[in-house]
Amino acid sequence: MSCEGPILAIETSCDDTCAALVGEDGTIRSSVVSSQGVHDRFGGVVPEIAARHHVELVNLVVDDALARAGASLDDVGRIAVTQGPGLVGALLVGLATAKSLAAARGLGLVAVDHLHGHLAATSAAPDPFEPPFLALVASGGHTFLAHVVEHARYEVLGQTLDDAAGEAFDKGARMLGLGYPGGPLLQHAALGGDGAAFAFPRAERMRGLDFSFAGLKTALLYTVRDLGEQESARRRADLAASFQRAIVEALLLRVERALEATGLDRLTLGGGVAANAELRERVGSLGVSVRVPPVELCTDNAAMIGLAARHLPVLAAADALALEAYATGEHLL
Ligand SMILES: Nc1ncnc2c1ncn2[C@@H]1O[C@H](COP(=O)(O)OP(=O)(O)OP(=O)(O)O)[C@@H](O)[C@H]1O
Ligand SMILES: [Mg+2]
Repeated sequence: MSCEGPILAIETSCDDTCAALVGEDGTIRSSVVSSQGVHDRFGGVVPEIAARHHVELVNLVVDDALARAGASLDDVGRIAVTQGPGLVGALLVGLATAKSLAAARGLGLVAVDHLHGHLAATSAAPDPFEPPFLALVASGGHTFLAHVVEHARYEVLGQTLDDAAGEAFDKGARMLGLGYPGGPLLQHAALGGDGAAFAFPRAERMRGLDFSFAGLKTALLYTVRDLGEQESARRRADLAASFQRAIVEALLLRVERALEATGLDRLTLGGGVAANAELRERVGSLGVSVRVPPVELCTDNAAMIGLAARHLPVLAAADALALEAYATGEHLL
C-alpha cells in the first residue's frame, strides 16, 4: 500500500466541520473550518444538531480543502481522521467519510486522537520542535501537561481534576452575561479591565502538576452575587480581567513546576485556550523557548489532525472499516 502524497485530514469531533491537506514535511497546504454558528443561541453545542450539520457539510468542506490546495483526490497519499474523544454522533460522520474515501480510493487510513491533534498543532513546518519538550494542552474539554518523549509518545504529568481551562472561560463568561463561546468574549470584555482588581484563587496550595478550576468558578459566582447585578455589570471589565488572569496564572504555575521537575527547556501550547492573548504574551517571559500555534490552529481544525497523523500507524482500508469512535479521553490521558 503506497502512502506517498499529502494527507487528507478530517475532523468532526464537535461543532466544527474541518478538512485539511497536509504535506509529509508538515506543510499545511489548506485548512478549512466550517463553524456551525447555530449552537450559539443554545449556549452550548447540541450533539444531534452538530451531527446533522456535519452530514450536510463534510463533503463540501473536503472538496474545498482539496480545491484550495490546488489538489484532487488523485494526489492524496492517505486519509487521517479524528477517532475521539468527542461527540460520538459527530465523530461518526467524519469516520464514515474517511472510511469511504479510503475504501473507494484504496488509500491507507490513520486514526488520530483529537488531543494528540491539539498537541501536534505546533509541529507544522518550517520550524517545529523535535522531542523531547513539554506540552500544555488547554481546550474546551481537557487540560493537561505532557512530557513529549517522541512524536507519538507522551507521558502525561498532570491534568485537570474538574473543569477544563476552556470550560472555566465558558462558565465564567456565562456568569458575566457574555454569551457563548466564552473564551474570546471574556478576553474581549477584559480589555481595559484591571486583572488585579479581584483576588481569585489559582489553586496555588494544591501541590503537584494537576489543575483545578472549580474553586475559581465558585469564587466568581460568589463575587458576582455579592456585588449585585448592577455593580457586577459596572465592573464587568475588572471581573473578566481578574478571572482571565487567574486562569492564565493557574496554568503558568503548573508549567513552571513541570519545567523545573523535568529539566525540559522547551514548551509548546495547544488547544483553544492557547488562543488567549494574555496567555500567549505571558509564556514569553518563562525563560524557555516556546512554540504557540497560530490562533486558527489552536481551536478545532483538521490541519492538526494531519500533522499528528504523520507519526502514526497507517491502517489498510479493509482494517480501517472496523474503527469505532470513542467519546472520552482515556486513550491519551
Ligand atoms: N481567546 C481565547 N481565550 C480563552 N479561551 C478561548 C479563547 N478562544 C477559545 N477559547 C476556548 O477554547 C475552547 C475551545 O477550544 P477547543 O476547540 O480546543 O475545545 P473543544 O474541541 O471544544 O474541546 P476538546 O478539544 O477538549 O475536545 C472553548 O472553551 C473556548 O472558550
Ligand atoms: Mg478541541
